[in-house]
Amino acid sequence: MGGTFLATNPYKGTRDFYPEDMRLRNWFFSKMRDVVEQYGYEEYGGPILESFDLYAAKSGQELVNEQIYHFEDKGNRRLAIRPEMTPTVARMVASRINELAFPLRWYSIANLMRYERPQKGRLREHWQLNVDVFGEEGIHADFEILSLIVDLMQAFGADGGMYNLRISNRRFFNDVMREVLKAAPEQIHVISKAVDKRSKISEEEYRNWLADSGISPEQVAQLDKVFASSFEELCACLPADSRGVAELQGLFSLLEETGFNSFCEFDFSVLRGFDYYTGTVFEVFDTSPENRRSLFGGGRYDDLIGLFSKQAVSGIGFGFGDVTFQDFLQIHNLIPADLAATGEVMIATFEDTPYREYARLSSELRSAGIANNIYLDVSAKMKKQLTYAERKGFPVVVFLGRQEIEDGAVVIKHMARREQETVSRGEYLEKLRGWLKS
Ligand code: HAM
Repeated sequence: MGGTFLATNPYKGTRDFYPEDMRLRNWFFSKMRDVVEQYGYEEYGGPILESFDLYAAKSGQELVNEQIYHFEDKGNRRLAIRPEMTPTVARMVASRINELAFPLRWYSIANLMRYERPQKGRLREHWQLNVDVFGEEGIHADFEILSLIVDLMQAFGADGGMYNLRISNRRFFNDVMREVLKAAPEQIHVISKAVDKRSKISEEEYRNWLADSGISPEQVAQLDKVFASSFEELCACLPADSRGVAELQGLFSLLEETGFNSFCEFDFSVLRGFDYYTGTVFEVFDTSPENRRSLFGGGRYDDLIGLFSKQAVSGIGFGFGDVTFQDFLQIHNLIPADLAATGEVMIATFEDTPYREYARLSSELRSAGIANNIYLDVSAKMKKQLTYAERKGFPVVVFLGRQEIEDGAVVIKHMARREQETVSRGEYLEKLRGWLKS
């Protein structure tokens, strides 16, 4: 023998999904689908490869310079593996802008790749549920998206004490920077980047970032004051016609009137890294200190469709990642124990019984809607077959030997109760269903 073998581990920051992992992922994504579809959202999909330019325009420097996987294809086109879904959906909406009926409510579940340093809550490949509304500028769409998030969390049994939804508004932030700090537009951009990163860097790095980017010591002092101010105090510094103030006030009063406000809070430091956000922005965090990265985030983007079309169509939505959410479910004990079940029935086999009888029985069970496996090696000892059934978690095993065929019967065994019965072929399906239900 000798020689070197290939590595069995997947590429750094990506995961293999063994059947038990798929069961978990399918379980939570199908629950999410149910909630989102109840709100009338329709599913869309897109390609994994996109033109690099799609992200270069508005996704923000960090994503474009550091996190995008990109390459040239054989026709010299510069391509990127999608690091997020929003530019794809904006492109798709723009491409059919005259045919679509707005407001649109769309969702997708897609895998994305980002070249990040793998760490708790951050990998290089993750899956994201994206939910977006297009063509409605008013805060009713913002409210719908936020209430949908609360319903999504409730569908998993998450109560308000397990997470918090922090909300702000880019227009409001810009107004405060302009009116209070007297910041120029380029300075506002720099400050927003530093504030967005503040929780991930040291206080010294944050202050150096501001100073090195030309933010004066007086402005930094004002910024500190701004962070120590309440929402009402900040509103009082802004002109009466501030759109940011109106949007935030309108949104919070709707959330209050509907009782959703107990899950939501205003947080001036929420900005989001992408350059395309223009209005409401929000992030959802686990309250457990073990899971520090955001569960999901999103916001309103007014100008993204404008990259592709003269017509302006505003969008608002969020991306909900599977990595931090899985941690959240585990930390709060929200994963049901019975996700482990595989097929419902195993058919044990005997060497002296014609194999066609097993094929018929298996087909009969499938027609009755009962998933089943035939034990393929008919020469295997019954002990071995039953050990396999136990390891795979089959709740019921069906035996069919020469005697049962002669008698027009089968033997069924309830694995957990260690109980077994001979039942006629006419009655066994009903009995089995009863057992499987219990
Ligand atoms: P994002 O904040 O970059 O937003 O990602 C949304 C969520 O995806 C995060 O809160 C996190 O749960 C998850 N996520 C992001 N990167 C990673 C990673 N490297 N590993 C694991 N999970 C990750 C967006 O992508 C926006 N396009 C969302 C959006 C939709 N905005 C409007 N519509």
